[in-house]
Amino acid sequence: MSQNFKLYSQYYDLLYQDKDYQAEVNYLHQLINQYRPKSTNILELGSGTGKHANLLAEKSYSIVGLERSAEMVAIANKTKTEKVDFIIADITGFQINQSFDVALSLFHVISYLTDNQSLISTFEQVHHHLNEKGLFIFDVWHSSAVNFQVPEKRTKTLQNEIIHVTRHANPIINTEQNVVVVNYAIEVEDLKDGTTTNIDELHPMRHFSRPEIELLAYATGFEVIHSEEFLSKAIPSVETWGVCYILRKL
Ligand SMILES: C[S@@+](CC[C@H](N)C(=O)[O-])C[C@H]1O[C@@H](n2cnc3c(N)ncnc32)[C@H](O)[C@@H]1O
Repeated sequence: MSQNFKLYSQYYDLLYQDKDYQAEVNYLHQLINQYRPKSTNILELGSGTGKHANLLAEKSYSIVGLERSAEMVAIANKTKTEKVDFIIADITGFQINQSFDVALSLFHVISYLTDNQSLISTFEQVHHHLNEKGLFIFDVWHSSAVNFQVPEKRTKTLQNEIIHVTRHANPIINTEQNVVVVNYAIEVEDLKDGTTTNIDELHPMRHFSRPEIELLAYATGFEVIHSEEFLSKAIPSVETWGVCYILRKL
């Protein structure tokens, strides 16, 4: 395993150490029980390091996770259980010989799809892989919050016993495309040998309004049955950065 790979995985885990995956999985389990009880299997789009998938498996679901980053899948495979499978795939174009009761896409993965064709193609693929009245649940950046709060430059510093990370985020706002390109400059210092690795990441993120999601759903064979703030269940407002949408296959 290369040093960069080790640092990358440590950086990822460190960055999201405060994210409460168990609370998120409890929340998702409750939504699934409410809107499609007796669901048994899940397709996860953009499954990352597999934390949601492993916890969902503990709730008796079987899960297939699709993830385009081979590094993320390698991390996910280290902790996977028998009810979980991870496949390296792009969510905008995939074909697997299985159908699912529920599709999930969590932590703004759908916001990574910044053009209409990628969105339509992804929603169509999901529709194709869902069983009758299957659910598609995802969270995305919320347009009114992005426009009201306006993303600014910020710096985050994190440290554990192995690395010290400084991450500068410089957002470039494209108002005409509903996209914010977040330019991350990340400095990872190895505390054992004092060496420093610099990582530059561009994250173009699209934000959405409910009417836009309704139109996308309508065009791809879904209906929007509910939307709320992810996790808190609050009514979306200018204070709500991440909105959770629940779509049902028509
Ligand atoms: C913010 S991470 C979220 C990971 C995971 N869902 C979680 O909650 O920890 C976004 C993930 O989406 C993946 N991703 C983005 N676009 C993708 C695409 N077109 N196909 C597959 N994976 C994608 C990235 O590689 C990354 O792992």
